[in-house]
Amino acid sequence: MRTIDAMRSYSSTLRQSGKTIAFVPTMGFLHEGHLSLMKKGRELADRVVVSIFVNPTQFGPSEDLAAYPRDEARDLEMVEATGVDAVFIPDAKQMYPEGFQTTISLKALPAHLCGLSRPGHFEGVATVVAKLLGIVRPHLAIFGEKDYQQLLVVRQMVRDLELNVDIIGAPIVREADGLAMSSRNMYLADDQRKAACSLYQALTESKKRVKAGEISADTIIASAEALIQAHPDTRIDYIAVCDPKTLDAVTAIDGPVLMAIAVKVGRARLIDNMILTPGT
Ligand code: PAJ
Repeated sequence: MRTIDAMRSYSSTLRQSGKTIAFVPTMGFLHEGHLSLMKKGRELADRVVVSIFVNPTQFGPSEDLAAYPRDEARDLEMVEATGVDAVFIPDAKQMYPEGFQTTISLKALPAHLCGLSRPGHFEGVATVVAKLLGIVRPHLAIFGEKDYQQLLVVRQMVRDLELNVDIIGAPIVREADGLAMSSRNMYLADDQRKAACSLYQALTESKKRVKAGEISADTIIASAEALIQAHPDTRIDYIAVCDPKTLDAVTAIDGPVLMAIAVKVGRARLIDNMILTPGT
């Protein structure tokens, strides 16, 4: 469906016949990470709706909006093979018609991690997700833990605005070498692949250290930094150890913490994260 009207009437027909709808919003150039969310949707609801929309308002002026990879024909084959019932592909003119003037911004969550290096990003995400939820009207929507901060932002928005939809998180899907799947991995040259894997290595190494009794976040961050910087072509944006609910920085690790990393490898900005738990 390429129009908001078509999507609305599909969804209201389903609702009238008592069917439940799971929704997976994406920006396309799909991979197994996206497909895992759709498979989860199939388990949890009668119908699965996917959206493909490269949302301009969540890209900063110096970011990769124009270069963001697109392949609609391949995406459609993949969703069909995954048993998705409907795909919503709006254009920017419909989503942001002339005169559009509402945005949704959160006070605290975006003042951490990616929100600091991507000003306005989470405002763009919250606004487009709210709009998509209003159009698709799903019973539940599924988001990947790969974009952990995004998942928290969406959950908070839904709670604050009583949007009446269940937000479900799904685990990070990785390549065989540990690299978290991402549409942006296609920017990586062959010789940058090892450097890209250093995010996962730093996370698993940190997880081991915390399990073995290390409680200093600074120590954990310093060794992760050294491990990543040992690779050429890496520019660290942030390495953070924080509270998994508020994203506030943690100094002494005395319970489960979120370790989150963002690194530029060549022109690809990569993110990854893991929960570290002392003594487990
Ligand atoms: P996109 O980057 O296409 O991701 C769509 C969904 O797939 C997000 O919920 C993301 O967390 C999830 N995802 C991506 N890689 C994953 C992986 N390796 N394992 C598990 N899940 C993964 O996130 C967006 O699009 C946009 O911000 C969007 C929510 C669509 C709003 O524009």
